[in-house]
Amino acid sequence: MAAAPRRLLVVWHSFTGATRTMAETLAASAREVGGEALQVSLLHAADAGAEDVLAADAVVFATPETLASISGAMKDFFDRSYYPLLGRCDGKPYALVVCAGSDGHPTIAQLQRIATGLRLREVAEPVLVCTHAQTPEAIAAEKQVPEAELERARELGALLAAGLELGIF
Ligand SMILES: Cc1cc2nc3c(=O)[nH]c(=O)nc-3n(C[C@H](O)[C@H](O)[C@H](O)COP(=O)(O)O)c2cc1C
Repeated sequence: MAAAPRRLLVVWHSFTGATRTMAETLAASAREVGGEALQVSLLHAADAGAEDVLAADAVVFATPETLASISGAMKDFFDRSYYPLLGRCDGKPYALVVCAGSDGHPTIAQLQRIATGLRLREVAEPVLVCTHAQTPEAIAAEKQVPEAELERARELGALLAAGLELGIF
């Protein structure tokens, strides 16, 4: 009998497309590398909850930076999920994708603090994409993610898929 597929969950939020594109690209790459042995779920933060994290073997959190923090929708996801997850996901592998107009480091630090609280295990370097959006017009514009950044999303998806398939995570 074939082993049950491993599960990768990508929880994402995006205003102007950069984080969504990164999350979709990462998920497509993970599906390609993982094949039938990997089930990849791509969930908007508003549709994700603690049960989805509990059902996953590894999780990616992908968010824009807003006002030097995770976006409101991602905050709402953690507000709803944090205590239902506490003590129930120790050691679960995770990775981060953050898109920011100029910085992103406060958001990475915030996510890592949350993950430390949940005792999640970071298994890859965070992927930080600078979209160079700093004027109101640039911030409001739909984002085109450069190929080099998309490649980083593919690499992270492939790494997570391979790690799950080989039982490294
Ligand atoms: C309300 C608001 C606040 C923002 N604050 C920051 C910030 O503190 N630091 C930063 O680097 N970028 C900031 N940005 C820029 C976004 O991170 C940037 O536009 C990013 O591309 C958004 O990702 P998305 O295309 O996935 O929505 C802000 C954008 C908005 C709309």
